[in-house]
Amino acid sequence: MYQIIAKRVCAPEVIEYVIYAPVIASSAAPGQFVMLRVDENGERVPFTICDFDRLKGSVTILVQTVGVSTYKLSLKNAGDDILDLAGPFGEATDLKNYSRILLVAGGIGVAVIYPQAKVLNSKDCKFDVILGVRNSQMLVYSNEIKILSDYLYITSDDGSVGIKGFVTDKIGELLNANQSHYDLVFAVGPPPMMRAVCEITKRFNIKTIVSLNSIMLDGTGMCGCCRVTIGGQVKYSCVHGPEFDGHLVDWNEVIFRSKRFNALEKEHYCKLRGL
Ligand SMILES: Cc1cc2nc3c(=O)[nH]c(=O)nc-3n(C[C@H](O)[C@H](O)[C@H](O)COP(=O)(O)OP(=O)(O)OC[C@H]3O[C@@H](n4cnc5c(N)ncnc54)[C@H](O)[C@@H]3O)c2cc1C
Ligand code: FES
Repeated sequence: MYQIIAKRVCAPEVIEYVIYAPVIASSAAPGQFVMLRVDENGERVPFTICDFDRLKGSVTILVQTVGVSTYKLSLKNAGDDILDLAGPFGEATDLKNYSRILLVAGGIGVAVIYPQAKVLNSKDCKFDVILGVRNSQMLVYSNEIKILSDYLYITSDDGSVGIKGFVTDKIGELLNANQSHYDLVFAVGPPPMMRAVCEITKRFNIKTIVSLNSIMLDGTGMCGCCRVTIGGQVKYSCVHGPEFDGHLVDWNEVIFRSKRFNALEKEHYCKLRGL
């Protein structure tokens, strides 16, 4: 059992949980994730380690309620237990060898770039951030990231915060203004967004790393569920990723596989919430 130490609603359907898990906290690093099971009937679901505190023995996750497991988790409160929390899984990110980085997050992808922003800031690395959200209500961790980064740009679909438009509009503008400014773009968000980012950065020949949120089951490289094709080679997101060279990703496959269970998931979710 793992106890929820704190719970905070950050945006509609977006909740931050601080969970007591000293063994995971002791070796966690940015880019890695945990696999969580809410109760004995639950599936194992992956969440990025958004923050950790080795002294307090805690890990923080930022979760968007989208289906059965995340809904069941949303009903838990501080002081409640969750059944399993395993990790850390995946390869840690190492961005410190680049001279100027552009971190780009769409929606809940901010959970991936927040710990990276903390590390980059602690190492005095130069980096800018673009956060893309649907509307102002969905903006999470922007104050923290503003303090850590050199420049923070915000885009929103409806123009209610920052610039009206998509993250790709801002990337195009920044790269057109100064092509050699960035030697790395790191992008995380919905697969179509990451693909669009890669299409732009390829034109400017800027190395681009993406964090793939493939569907996962065991998280250990054994079930094959999170299979992706990178530069023509089969890789497993859970052990070889979740970060890959975005210019080598087979995006058609990623997008096709991410939608495989949509109808079933929607049916179960609606049943559970009585919708
Ligand atoms: C490495 C990694 C890190 C992630 N980090 C975060 C995070 O920090 N915060 C966050 O809110 N979400 C994160 N996700 C996505 C999160 O795992 C899914 O939203 C969650 O599994 C949904 O479970 P559900 O039962 O509530 O929804 P479901 O009804 O099962 O599915 C809803 C949506 O989630 C996707 N999904 C379902 N099961 C999985 C699974 N096992 N693995 C990946 N996607 C799945 C489905 O394709 C669907 O689009 C991450 C995914 C991966 C692979
Ligand atoms: S989740 Fe099973 S191989 Fe990656």
